Amino acid sequence: MSNLRVCVAGATGWAGSALAKGIFEAPDLELVAALSRSGAGKVLGDVLSIQGLTTPIFGTISEALATKPDIFVEYTKPSVAKGHILAALKEGAHVVVGTSGLSDDDYVEIDGVATEVRRGVLAVGNFALTAVLLQKFAEIAARYIPHWEIIDYAHADKKDAPSGTALQLANRLSQVRESQLDIPLDEMQGPRESRGVRLQGTQIHSVRLPGYVISLDAIFGMPDQKLILRHESGTSAEPYVQGALLAIRKVGTLIGVQRGLDSVMEF
Ligand SMILES: NC(=O)c1ccc[n+]([C@@H]2O[C@H](COP(=O)([O-])OP(=O)(O)OC[C@H]3O[C@@H](n4cnc5c(N)ncnc54)[C@H](OP(=O)(O)O)[C@@H]3O)[C@@H](O)[C@H]2O)c1
Repeated sequence: MSNLRVCVAGATGWAGSALAKGIFEAPDLELVAALSRSGAGKVLGDVLSIQGLTTPIFGTISEALATKPDIFVEYTKPSVAKGHILAALKEGAHVVVGTSGLSDDDYVEIDGVATEVRRGVLAVGNFALTAVLLQKFAEIAARYIPHWEIIDYAHADKKDAPSGTALQLANRLSQVRESQLDIPLDEMQGPRESRGVRLQGTQIHSVRLPGYVISLDAIFGMPDQKLILRHESGTSAEPYVQGALLAIRKVGTLIGVQRGLDSVMEF
């Protein structure tokens, strides 16, 4: 079987550059194009100081897609991600989405296009294996425990809130049920914001402070007992590489949008 041809949008960024190196080192994958405005016209290996990596960097999505990748990886920023994803689908690529901050409505629209062109989109709010397992375990907990809330922690300059991981978890838990509120939000005393935001039936609280990297608590409470599922990742982009490589290898088996890496993992 010939190698999968991959294009990474955001290949010069923090997460994308680690993934680009991982693709370069993978024997079954070929990195045919990179997308970055500041790197346009350069060779990715020169920008990332990786010898032998000759992938060209393009400054526009249309130039990058002209290389006809089998798989397009979106790793840029929320404001341009949807446009990139739709363009890639229309050019016949399957898409892996790492970029956080797309809404559920965005995914409904993307699903419509992906289904029409019979391509897969695998959207993963967090490729780290420990975060993926947290989602799976939380889903099981929600079947037995009706009360839960999520706290998402990140560095002070993370612009999107809640995090992609928290949004994805809320979306997954909504397919089990809504978390129970013993006092409805509009009957609470004090500022409404104290209870966080309710999204897809889950209360989510986002902490943005120096000193944090990325972590998330999913707290399930029952009378006189609680379960706290916690994921933490460090400062390197390493935790995201293996999960993203798995997504690249599996997305071609899908049609339409699937959210969460565990949808293509065996348990
Ligand atoms: N799913 C996961 O596991 C996971 C893990 C880590 C990060 N993320 C998410 O991935 C996204 C990227 O994070 P990051 O920390 O890697 O960001 P970053 O370091 O700022 O990198 C962003 C990359 O996107 C490119 N880019 C930005 N705007 C662009 C545009 N309009 N057109 C083309 N390229 C553009 C940048 O290059 P130029 O500026 O030169 O264009 C750069 O290569 C964020 O949404 C983050 O939350 C997800």
